[in-house]
Amino acid sequence: MEYSRVFILKDGRSCTVRNGTEEDAPAVLANYIATHDQTDYLGVYTDEITLSLEQEKAYLERKRESTSDAALVAEVGGLIAGTAGIDRITAAEKARHRVSFGISIDRDWWGIGIGRALTEACIECARKAGYVQMELEVVADNERALRLYRSAGFIEYGRNPRGFRTRQGRWQENVLMRLELD
Ligand SMILES: CC(C)(COP(=O)(O)OP(=O)(O)OC[C@H]1O[C@@H](n2cnc3c(N)ncnc32)[C@H](O)[C@@H]1OP(=O)(O)O)[C@@H](O)C(=O)NCCC(=O)NCCS
Repeated sequence: MEYSRVFILKDGRSCTVRNGTEEDAPAVLANYIATHDQTDYLGVYTDEITLSLEQEKAYLERKRESTSDAALVAEVGGLIAGTAGIDRITAAEKARHRVSFGISIDRDWWGIGIGRALTEACIECARKAGYVQMELEVVADNERALRLYRSAGFIEYGRNPRGFRTRQGRWQENVLMRLELD
């Protein structure tokens, strides 16, 4: 899905949130790997990311052309600070109103409003695509993410105490959240 909007961050800088393109692939891949290195709250380990540059380019192009999915980047001063996206959960008629949401931002850029901008942009894209429910899962001790989601209107509808198991053998409880869009 194509999208572009400029947001003003808490420090006064402009942040362009737009769909990623083929040209963004190297920066998007680098950002994806960096964010997975920086936090234990995401669902895959960095060494499990096997995406090649060519695959990343194809992925971004596919998402740009899609009417059901979006892959967005947040660009500040020519740099990709973070990414977010929406993905249709299923094409089956009874559940095609549901879309999932994911987001990750480089730690150097946390706390200045990029998370909020990307979340708002994804909500706009989800509405434009005609979804009526947006869903996500977040690790229960990821306070920053929980605050962001709650302030965007997401509500908790359940918990999975064994959502993730870390390599150290520790369970990470997942909070299930949803946002009604109609
Ligand atoms: C979670 C994440 C997306 C938040 O992005 P961010 O750019 O730091 O968020 P923002 O600056 O837009 O802040 C959004 C909200 O987060 C909360 N927040 C900000 N700073 C915070 C802090 N120091 N402590 C707790 N909450 C904080 C606030 O509620 C804030 O809302 P406000 O704008 O009304 O103050 C980002 O930290 C991230 O990518 N983390 C790693 C990957 C991850 O955990 N992804 C989510 C997986 S479900």
